Amino acid sequence: MSYLQWSDELATGIGVIDSQHKRIIHYINQLEDARALNEPDLVKEVLINLTDYTLSHFAFEESLMEDAGYEAAAIHSKTHDSFRDRIRSYNDRFSTGEDVSEELSKLLNVWLIEHIANDDSSYTSCVLKNIPGINNKQKSGWLSRKLHNFFA
Ligand SMILES: [Fe+2]
Repeated sequence: MSYLQWSDELATGIGVIDSQHKRIIHYINQLEDARALNEPDLVKEVLINLTDYTLSHFAFEESLMEDAGYEAAAIHSKTHDSFRDRIRSYNDRFSTGEDVSEELSKLLNVWLIEHIANDDSSYTSCVLKNIPGINNKQKSGWLSRKLHNFFA
């Protein structure tokens, strides 16, 4: 599978979300590297980082939507739920020694990237309106508190 590239089409316009999405893409590419090297320990390490980070990102995003009063937050969270279920089942299979990295890599390439491109942009205007300072370079109180909560 080829490397994923960040493009403006994936941008939500919310700096902190775009940075997190870039990092997820970085991890997806790292997974490809680890698979190409055929190093099980490295694949395992990247899988752990990738799933941990993606799950923290989802929780952060859900908190952001909730605090902004985004009306479709519950629907959006449901799509995260289905992804979380899949991640959990991959982790279970992985822990029994099955190599799930190719399947997971495909899922991430298709589902997650589509989700970022289509679903995540839908909450942008509500967040920008209701959480002033979210895009300030100097972290607002809201942002530093939430980052600490979800990524500490
Ligand atoms: Fe999302």
